[in-house]
Amino acid sequence: MSQPAPRESSTPLVRVEEMNKEFTHGARVLHVLRDISLSLDAGEMVTIIGASGAGKSTLLHCLGTLDLPTRGRILFGDVDITRLSPPELAAFRNRTIGFVFQFHHLLAEFTALENAMMPALIGRLPPKEARERASVMLEAVGLAHRLSHRPGELSGGEQQRVAIARALVMEPKLLLADEPTGNLDTRTSEEVHDLIFRLNEERAMTVLVVTHNMDLARMAPRRIRMEDGRLVDDKRVDPDEARAGRQGSRST
Ligand SMILES: Nc1ncnc2c1ncn2[C@@H]1O[C@H](COP(=O)(O)OP(=O)(O)OP(=O)(O)O)[C@@H](O)[C@H]1O
Ligand SMILES: [Mg+2]
Repeated sequence: MSQPAPRESSTPLVRVEEMNKEFTHGARVLHVLRDISLSLDAGEMVTIIGASGAGKSTLLHCLGTLDLPTRGRILFGDVDITRLSPPELAAFRNRTIGFVFQFHHLLAEFTALENAMMPALIGRLPPKEARERASVMLEAVGLAHRLSHRPGELSGGEQQRVAIARALVMEPKLLLADEPTGNLDTRTSEEVHDLIFRLNEERAMTVLVVTHNMDLARMAPRRIRMEDGRLVDDKRVDPDEARAGRQGSRST
C-alpha cells in the first residue's frame, strides 16, 4: 500500500497555541498576531507568504524567542518557552534555534570563519571545537575557500551563505529564515534556496522560511499564508511532488 503515513505519527517539534501579539504604539494598541495555532513537525520544510504587514516577521520573532507573545503558549516538547527567564531563553535560543535574516548582520571586522564561530563561542564551546564546527558549516555552504575573507570581501550571496553557516553552527533543531534571499539576484537566490532545501533534507532540520518569492514558496511541501495577523491557509503537498517541482524548476 502506498498510503502516506498518518499525520498523527509525526513528532511535533514545536506547538504554538492561541498566540496573540499586540504592540502598544502611543495611545494605540496594534493587534498584530491573532489566535495563531500552529504545529511544526521535526524535519518539516515550511514556507510562509503574505502581504507586507501581515505579521510574518513578528511570528518568526516570537517563535524564535526574540520577542514574547502577549498571550498564548509556545511549546518545544513539554517546555513552554514563554515562561523561561531571560538567561534560560538565551541559552535555549543558542542551542535550539538558528536565524537567517534578510540582511546578513555579519560583523564587518571579523572573517567569515570568525563570524560563523560566534554562536559557538557564545554557547561556550571550546574555541577549537567552535572553529572546527564553523569550518565544516562553511564548507557545507560552499565557502571552504573563503574562510579568511571579511564580509566586505565577499559577494552578496557569499555573505548570506556565511550567515546561514553561522545560523547552523550549533546544529539547531529549528532554522527560521526571514526573506533570506530578499536582497539577492535571481541566480544567487536559487543557489541559496537549493542550499536551504538540501540542509533540510540532509540534516532533517525543521525549516520555516518567510518569503515574497513565489517560486520558493511553491517548492516547499507545506505552505502557509498569513493575512492581517492570522493564518488563513495551511497547505501540504506530497513531499515527492514538491521535490519533483524543485528539480523541474532547476532544469529550466
Ligand atoms: N515593535 C513594533 N511596534 C509597533 N508595531 C510594530 C512593531 N513591529 C511590527 N509592528 C507592526 O506590526 C505589523 C506586522 O509587522 P511584520 O514586520 O510582522 O510584518 P511582515 O508580514 O513581516 O511584513 P513585510 O513583508 O513587510 O516584512 C506591521 O503593521 C508593523 O508596523
Ligand atoms: Mg517581515
